[in-house]
This record gives sequence, C-alpha cells and structure tokens, in this order.
Amino acid sequence: MTAQFSVVDLIRAKRSGRRLEPEQIDWLIDAYTRGVVADEQMSAMAMAVFFQGLDDAELSRWTAAMIASGHRLDFSKLSRPTVDKHSTGGVGDKITLPLAPLVASCGAAVPQLSGRGLGHTGGTLDKMEAIPGWRADLSNDEMMAQLDSVGAVICAAGPGLAPADKKLYALRDVTGTVESIPLIASSIMSKKIAEGTSALVLDVKCGSGAFMKTQADARELAARLVSLGTDAGVATSALLTDMSSPLGRAIGNGIEVAESVEVLAGGGPADIVELTLALARQMVSAVGLDADPQENLRNGRAMDVWRQMVRAQGGDPDAALPVAHHSQQVLADRDGVLTGIDAMSVGLASWRLGAGRARKEDPVQAAAGVRLEAVIGDTVTAGQPLATLFTDTADAIGGAEEALAGAFTFGAGAASTSRVIDVIGG
Ligand code: URA
Repeated sequence: MTAQFSVVDLIRAKRSGRRLEPEQIDWLIDAYTRGVVADEQMSAMAMAVFFQGLDDAELSRWTAAMIASGHRLDFSKLSRPTVDKHSTGGVGDKITLPLAPLVASCGAAVPQLSGRGLGHTGGTLDKMEAIPGWRADLSNDEMMAQLDSVGAVICAAGPGLAPADKKLYALRDVTGTVESIPLIASSIMSKKIAEGTSALVLDVKCGSGAFMKTQADARELAARLVSLGTDAGVATSALLTDMSSPLGRAIGNGIEVAESVEVLAGGGPADIVELTLALARQMVSAVGLDADPQENLRNGRAMDVWRQMVRAQGGDPDAALPVAHHSQQVLADRDGVLTGIDAMSVGLASWRLGAGRARKEDPVQAAAGVRLEAVIGDTVTAGQPLATLFTDTADAIGGAEEALAGAFTFGAGAASTSRVIDVIGG
C-alpha cells in the first residue's frame, strides 16, 4: 500500500461528518492491521464512525478492506452448494446447533464458523464444548473434508479470516463502540464474504437481549447487511426476529445443547422449532434445493447428521452432559399470566452464574445457566417455580437472583409469541 495519510486528519474528517475516500479507508484498515495506526487512534476513529456513520460507498469499501486484511476460503470444489446462517446474537440463541445438521440433511453444505461468547450473549463454541471430547479447532483441510462427508461443520474461524475485524472487534468491545450499525455490518459481512459461502441467511435480532433494541435499527442493519452481501455476489437475505425474551427455555451452555437435541428428536420449545424451520426453509430455498426441513426433523435425518457432526469432531453424542454442583429455584411472588421475560436480565443472570465470560481469556462453566420453568402465556400461581439457576459457584446465585428481580412481568393476557417479524431480501 503506497498511499500515506495522517490518521489524525482522517479522524478529524470523520469526526466532522465528512466522507472518507476509498484509498483513505484502504490505508486506514491496512495500517491498523499492521500496527502502524495505534489502538487509541482507531478507538477515536471507531467513536467518530459511531456518531457520524458511514454512507453506503464508505461501508462497502470498509468491508472490502477488512476482507483484504486476510485470506479467503474457497468452497467451490465441494460437491454440495454452501449456505451459511449468521445471527446478530441473543439470549438462549442455540439455533445453529439444530439448524446446521438440519440444513445439511436437506443436501447443502453448512460451514458454521463460530465464535465464543462475550458479555450476556452466549457463544456457539462454548455451547458445543460442553459435549465431552468435542473440539472446535479444525484445520481448513479437516473442515473441507467434513463438509464433503457430513455436510455440516461448527468450528472456530481461523486467525487468517478478516484479521482486521478480530482486532477492531476486541477494541470496540472495550471502547463502547459495538452498537454501531456500519461497524456491526462490516464486521459480520467481512467474515462471511471472506468465508466464501455462496448463500447467507441472516437472523437479525431486535429487543432487549439484542444489540439492536428497536425494530427501526434492526431493519436498517438488516438492509445494510443484505446489500453488502448481494453486492459481493452472495445470495443474502435476512429474517428480522424478536429477542425481547430468551429463546426457548434453556440459557447456558450444556443445557442449550440438551434443548437442541430435543429439537432434533422432534420435540423442543415451540419458538425454537419455529425459528429453526423458518431459517432452514430460507437457506434451503436460497441454494435451490427441494427438501422439506420439517420432514427431516420428523424422520430423524437431521439427528443422524448431528451425531455424525459431533463424532467427526471428537465428541460423543451419547455422553452425559455436565451437571452443575448447585441449583436454586426462583419462585413466583404472585398469581397471573406471564406476559414478559426480559432477555437481557436472563442473559445477565446466566452470565453471572458462570455460563459467560467477562474477558475473552476467562473460562466458562459448561453446566451453568438458567432454565425457565414457565414461559410467556403460562398461567402461574404464587410459589410456583419460574426458573432454576445452575452453577458450580454457590456464591454466584445471589447476583443471578438480583439480575432476575423484575425480569418476569404479569398481565391479563399474552401477546403473540411468533419470533419472525419480517423477511428482508431473498
Ligand atoms: N457480531 C459480529 O461479528 N460483529 C459485531 O460487530 C457484532 C456482532
């Protein structure tokens, strides 16, 4: 990269609401990845973007520069069409676990390059690591071989995929600049485009447990994600989904695996089944396959792929999942119909019990979490259990109970419980 710019000038320009030129963006992202632009300078730039935004041309160039910071994967030699799903993150969001084997059982290759959790939203790898023996780190060759033979893989994204995003995401996390629509959009799409999937379905969440608290913001994020993907030649669409209450009944790691297996066995909570099938149908149609995901949940084909997928990565699908050393019930203090369960509060409770981490190097507890004993629409009486808390650290229970104070709301009747608000693109 030959062009040289003053990063202070670029920060001032963005801070004053001016557009960055394409070559300025290329230089900035490259110089930051190489350590020429310092973390404190990039923090100031992230804050300037947070307040001033990026227009479509800037966003597209910013995303392209993040992709160019690393290498791209090539799935074109696989015998099946590739389709991926990405969720913007939520509480109890274990959908990847039943979805990847389900869509693979329909004939697609599903590469789910996933991450670990930070803060109140869980990470798919943390959940899968509750399965005894399962390993997240695969080489590219192992991943390709598994995609060809099994059709689905859930594994850690290698360090070479959009390294600029790895650095920038860690920085945003500690500088209060995560919740910026262009920064989220470029972060997600740089990884997905570099990954090389031919189709992508996004699950853009809104509500208290999501990055986007309002439908208007979630719609804008979805629109920007879809246009970045489409412009890069990836068949991209998005489901706008509700994350005001936790998904399903289990929020944690091992307990979310158990709930996912229930779904693969043809049962499980209605909202998890609804969202899994909605995403699966969108993914299957994005790659032109003619298969019925609902039928593959019923006939056990999706479960067969799950078992193969777990075994291929050293896990034992029949092994007992870890059990927490301590548990405690949270009881209803009144009679009524449950009309709300605040996702953020439950995510925080689960995190305090040990299911999540505060710093990226912290360990997580496989058995910690919250199991909801009542869900929206249930009529409960005073003294009835609303939730069970699980942890290996007894003194974490008080903090979790505090987080849940006021999380359950009661009223005359429950509103609609459908998770899917809208479909954008596709
Ligand atoms: N997920 C990502 O990968 N990046 C973000 O910025 C937010 C959610």
